Order: sequence, then C-alpha cells, then structure tokens
Amino acid sequence: MSTAPKILIVDDDQTVRINLFEMLSRKQFHVMAAENVTMAMEMVGESAPDIVLTDLKMTDGTGLDLLKKIKFKLPTVPVILLTGHASVDTAVEAMRLGAHDYVLKPVQSDAVFAVVEQALQSRKIGKVSRTLRAARQKSGMKKDKPIIGNSESLRKVMIRAKKVASSKATILVSGESGTGKEVFARYIHSESDRANGPFVALNCAALPEGLLESELFGHEKGAFTGAVSAKKGKFELASGGTILLDEIGEVPLHLQAKLLRVLQEEEVDRLGGSEPVVVDVHVVASTNRNLKDMVAEGTFRQDLFYRLNVIPLLLPPLRERKSDIPVLAQYFLEKFSRIYDRELKPFSESVQRAFLADNWTGNVREMENLVERAVLLCQTPNYQLEDFWDDIPEESSGTDSVVSPLVWHASPVAAPAEDSPVKIHADDGSLVSLKNVERQMILHALEKTDNNRTHAAKMLGISVRTLRNKLHEYRNSGLLV
Ligand SMILES: Nc1ncnc2c1ncn2[C@@H]1O[C@H](COP(=O)(O)OP(=O)(O)OP(=O)(O)O)[C@@H](O)[C@H]1O
Ligand SMILES: [Mg+2]
Repeated sequence: MSTAPKILIVDDDQTVRINLFEMLSRKQFHVMAAENVTMAMEMVGESAPDIVLTDLKMTDGTGLDLLKKIKFKLPTVPVILLTGHASVDTAVEAMRLGAHDYVLKPVQSDAVFAVVEQALQSRKIGKVSRTLRAARQKSGMKKDKPIIGNSESLRKVMIRAKKVASSKATILVSGESGTGKEVFARYIHSESDRANGPFVALNCAALPEGLLESELFGHEKGAFTGAVSAKKGKFELASGGTILLDEIGEVPLHLQAKLLRVLQEEEVDRLGGSEPVVVDVHVVASTNRNLKDMVAEGTFRQDLFYRLNVIPLLLPPLRERKSDIPVLAQYFLEKFSRIYDRELKPFSESVQRAFLADNWTGNVREMENLVERAVLLCQTPNYQLEDFWDDIPEESSGTDSVVSPLVWHASPVAAPAEDSPVKIHADDGSLVSLKNVERQMILHALEKTDNNRTHAAKMLGISVRTLRNKLHEYRNSGLLV
C-alpha cells in the first residue's frame, strides 16, 4: 500500500479539480477528488485523507458545512479552504471554526504546496487541531482573562473594583458595548473572598420574558407546561459566589419588582414553589444603557436603580483612554498569533497611527475582532491597513514617520537582550562611550531587521528620521561605509 500522504480535493468546478489533481499528483501525493459535500464525506469515511482541500460553494452545501462534518469525524485532519478574494471573510470564519488555512483562487502551485507542506508538518508533529486548542485556550482564558491597559482611568476603575470586591454591596458596571464590563465582573469575583465560589452570568437581554423569570428564580416541577422537573435558578446556582446580571436594563418592569425583592430579602421564590429559598450572592449588574434616563422615562424602576447602583463602576470608552490602545493591540496580536500559530509580525506605522486615531465605537471587542481577522489574513511581513479595514480611513494616509514610537510604546522596544552583541565594556574593562553604544545598537537593529529602517527604528524606540540622521552622521564621520 502506498504511504504517500492522501489529499482529498473538493470542488464543484471540474477544471479546478483537474488542475489541483495534476499539480499534487506530480508531487507524489495520493490525490482523490469529490465534487460535493456528500461525496467528500463518503471518501472521508472510506479512506481517511491526511489533508482536505475544499472549495466554499458546492451544490449540496458549503465548505464550512464540510469543515464542521470533518472536524466532528476526524478532528485532527487539516482542512484547507480554497477561496476567492470576495469570500475572505468566510475564510476567516472558517479559520475560527478550525480550518487549517486557506488558499486564494485562482490557485497558484507555490501557494498550494506551501500550505499543504505546512499542514503535513503540523500533522506529523502531532499537533492537536486548532479548533480544539483554540477552544481550550479560549475557555481557559474565560476564567481569568487578564485586564490589559495602563491608562490612568482604567487603573482607577481597577483599584476601585478591587477595593469593593469583597463587600456585599451591589456593583453596577456601566459602559459602552465592548468596554469590558464582563471582564470586570469576573475580575471583581476573582478578587473577592468568594473567589472559590461559583461565578454565574445571566444575559438578561438574551431570553424571552417567561424564560428569564425561570432562569433567574428557578421553578418547581409542573410550575408551567414543559416544567417536567424542578430546576434551580441562577440565584440559587450562584449561592456562595457572584451573579452577574448582564444587560440589566433589558429586564421587563414586572420582573424588576421581583428582582428588587430578591435583593432586599436575599431569598428567591421558585416559580410554583411554596417556600422561599435563602440565597447568599454578591450581585454585580452591568448595562450599556443609561439607567438614569430609563428611570426618567419610566422604563426602569427607581428603587431598583438605587438598590443596584450602590457602587457604580463606569468603564470609559476606548477612545477616551488612548494609551490603552497600543498595549491592547499588542496583547491581542500576541494572543491570536499564538492561537493560530502565526508568526508574530509588527504593526506598520500607518496601522499604529490609524489605531490611535480610530473612534472604536465597538471598543475593545471591536479591536479584538479586527486583530484576530488580521492575524488570519495577513500575508505580508508586517500588518498593513488593508489587513484591518476594507475602506482605509483617510486620516491614516501620510508618511510613515508621524507616530512617535514613544506614543506606541507597546511596540517591541530596544532593551538589549542578554546575548546582545552590544558591548558596553572595552577590552580593558573600561566603559565605552555612549555614542559608541548607540552606534552598535543601531547597527545591531539594522542587522536584525534586514536593513529595514522602519522596523529597526521601532525596535530602537526612535523615529525613522532620527535613525536616518544618525546613519548620515556615521557616514560623514567615516564610521560607516
Ligand atoms: N481591558 C481589557 N483587557 C483585555 N481584554 C479586554 C479588555 N476589555 C475588554 N476585553 C475583551 O473584549 C471583549 C469584550 O469585553 P466584554 O464582553 O467584557 O465587554 P462588555 O462591556 O461586556 O460588552 P457588551 O456590552 O457588548 O456585553 C472580550 O473578549 C474581552 O475579553
Ligand atoms: Mg457584556
């Protein structure tokens, strides 16, 4: 039996199938082809391919459908998407679902070989599939997601959150969508003396009224049609720990009254129950709406507002704490490069500038999504504007030396590594001059970055212009040829 790696090609276009078949057969692969999802799954069942290359649109389903099916059946088989430029977002979606990589159509043999080779390598060294790894990392991170940022305003909120974490007083976290309200709620829990107890979150906007009530307070068997057994509500489940009432502004008025009673009495009435159940929970509520306005409009009870708002925590929007932008961007870049096994590449200066100038209406979540997408899409040695935005913001055009590296201080800075060839002592042990150290560092940075002045300047924490001037100076004084 042949030991050549088996590759399954799935595409409804015969020309593409033949083209890829010939391309890969020439490289001694064992190639099979299918024209639709059904046929592909039969082949997957019969001959367990090592790699699957699939088109996005087939007659009986999509490449994503096939991906999900394969991931269910053979989770470690790398699936590579064939995609046109117009479907790049679908490719990103596919990568999130665990696709190994994607290749742009029309397929170029070099690109196909490179991706296939890489997929085989990752299979050989027995890497767990990306989906599983990413899912694990994501769920792992969910528990103790770090709060990233060094702005004064974020730091103030953190200090306050830590200070009040162990009190029983209700905390109301407000802020625009994506500012990190849930992250903060989890932080409060982890910093409290209830950290070993449960943390239970309930999104009050996600459920229809009837269901929300039974989710919050629980129900007895037979309390309503469909209540085939008794069920604990979230308050009971959170007993001994913290409950996050997320999007509290969406709770309908009549439930607001019940909620107020629970907060005051510290006991819940299960639906259909006769005895109240005592609960011991720390309540954290969050909202992206202005509850005061809602009180004025009559859509939120004033007494409940006061009961919730004992300790207000206001998360400022990202555009009002610009100094968090570089650190967050770098954090997400490193996180997703790690999750998706991508090389850690720097942001170009125009990207840094655009990030600092952006309004971030979707706040940190928007940035997180944008960086994840870019990590999956970027094909160049550094991140360019088009990796993030289809419509490039106008204010970002201009020369690449406007952003002071001091502003974007999250970019790798030039602390000389321990094995740095930069010498601060002369052979006789005396210190060499500062000028000399500076020159060595500059030359070292240029060597490290293959003479890319933009990258070298960033490494050194100086502007490209300063770097240019220094080189000019060295040349004039004969220190550089
Ligand atoms: N300071 C931060 N450091 C690290 N990650 C953050 C930070 N703030 C937010 N995030 C991340 O951004 C995303 C959105 O955060 P979160 O869900 O807490 O926002 P939210 O304010 O609850 O949003 P929404 O109002 O839409 O529910 C999450 O993935 C979260 O991990
Ligand atoms: Mg939230």
